[in-house]
Amino acid sequence: MTSTYDTLSSRLQGAFDTLEAGADPVLRTSDRSDYQANGVMALAKRLGRSPRDVAEEIVDHAELSGIATVEIAGPGFLNLTLSPEFLGKQLTTLRADDRLGIEAATTTKTVVIDYSAPNVAKEMHVGNLRSTVIGDALARMYRFAGHRVIARNHVGDWGTPFAMLIEHLLDREEGNGATFSIGDLDGFYKEARTKFDADDSFKERSRARVVALQSGDPETLRLWRVIVDQSIAYLDLVYQDLGITLTVNDVVGESFYDSMLSDVVADLSAAGLIVESGGALCVFPPGFTNRDGEALPLIVRKSDEGFGYAASDLAAVRDRVDNLHADEMLYVVGVPQAQHFEMVFAVARLAGWLPERVRCEHVTFGNVLGPDRKMFKSRSGETVKLASLLNEAIERADAALKERNTDLDETARTKLAVEIARAAIKYADLSTDRHHDYIFDLDRMIAFEGDTGPYLQYAHARLRSIFRRLGAPWESTAVAFSLDTPQEHHLALGLLAFPEAFEAALASLQPHRLCVYLFDLAQRLTAFYDACPVLISEGALRDQRLALCDLAERTLSIGLSVLGIDAPEKM
Ligand code: ARG
Repeated sequence: MTSTYDTLSSRLQGAFDTLEAGADPVLRTSDRSDYQANGVMALAKRLGRSPRDVAEEIVDHAELSGIATVEIAGPGFLNLTLSPEFLGKQLTTLRADDRLGIEAATTTKTVVIDYSAPNVAKEMHVGNLRSTVIGDALARMYRFAGHRVIARNHVGDWGTPFAMLIEHLLDREEGNGATFSIGDLDGFYKEARTKFDADDSFKERSRARVVALQSGDPETLRLWRVIVDQSIAYLDLVYQDLGITLTVNDVVGESFYDSMLSDVVADLSAAGLIVESGGALCVFPPGFTNRDGEALPLIVRKSDEGFGYAASDLAAVRDRVDNLHADEMLYVVGVPQAQHFEMVFAVARLAGWLPERVRCEHVTFGNVLGPDRKMFKSRSGETVKLASLLNEAIERADAALKERNTDLDETARTKLAVEIARAAIKYADLSTDRHHDYIFDLDRMIAFEGDTGPYLQYAHARLRSIFRRLGAPWESTAVAFSLDTPQEHHLALGLLAFPEAFEAALASLQPHRLCVYLFDLAQRLTAFYDACPVLISEGALRDQRLALCDLAERTLSIGLSVLGIDAPEKM
């Protein structure tokens, strides 16, 4: 179906084009009327004419009969009100569409999304939250849009931290690894880190161990596997608990690229891009300088001959372009790595590994802060584990459910508590513009009222309960919409705006735009319930209201699912 917005927009565009080809009508939904087009003022200025005149000419030219009526307001705003027939027709088309107006892509793109990517020698912590949650929402949105998503969980499983762990493992003569669990490993990592910082000879040995690891020393590799396997099995549990679609098959960490690194160096070198600097092999992509104006190197091989983080990212670019045939590559990684990615992309372009046609983007995000507006830490100043965050949220959700005295049995209540807890955590993250920091505040996030995940789940469950209370399965009948109350009209407009909200969120890689839309829809629903009884109404009116409820339920259900949020039946 052609969405309501697109229909209006193309009709207006036709009129604007008669005055200046391509002039933007600047069409928006509006509180004053159904939609408002604000493009007249800018156009009038460019044409050196009075906005009022231009507006009148546009209105004359716009082929809107049967679609909308237009009024000129203020200096030249065009206020558009949909005709009842057109509105009804759009709603009817929407009802018959499983995708609620969101068209499936006509050309399927292969989109490689690099997200989550913890360092696997540590437990997942709050610092891994945003990449995991935002990346997963983007993956789901792309899949829903009809694209082929290849997730890449670029875990840190190589290099110095691992060498350090292996070295510490050997020191403690626990080299068989048979008794390790990841819980131990996290403490173990901290011990190794302390030793690394304090003990120079340990530092030296760890450095040598990096080289042993990278040159494929069998004993070193055996110990490495023990650590990595356990860590990945544990990661998988955390993803399942959080409802993240990543699987063990998506784990393609730094180690995977190891065998490609010497080619990276050889090919850069053959292209004349390598410069030796203090024993390290570097590329100096143009345009990158430090504060003193000196050219910045991307270090491809360190002076100890070990390869670094940049080398594996260069190999990953090649792999994703050549072997995975990526049309788009997204890297959902915190903003501190912005320069790293800019330099990696620049070098890959210089080397001819990253063709112009491949969209390649670093999807950055801000920090998760504590109540003191500093980086979120536990009271004792430690990083907070994701597993314990989720558990705390589950406990709170469970307590809230007990208080509400629902008729749920223990098992059902626990399941619901998990769904609410995940929703609270994910929605708080996703509903923040990803460029901004946010304060992690469980009390606010888990509230059933306000702009929260549980509130949207509740809005959805309330709709489900209407249909349950019908007693018999709902027989959806044809409806001749006649939206006589402002609340029904307002709700209908909200429902018709779903495709734009989804597409805007996807195009800008900003899931929060979809959150804003869903929250707005939930508020329209509340106003609708207050003014328009559903179950006690009768006949055609009842059919119409049920049809609106059904559309709202489906919208919330798709909207929440592409964000990775469960939509329980009852709350
Ligand atoms: N493991 C890295 C870190 O924790 C993030 C990896 C991001 N992805 C990448 N291709 N570099 O900082």
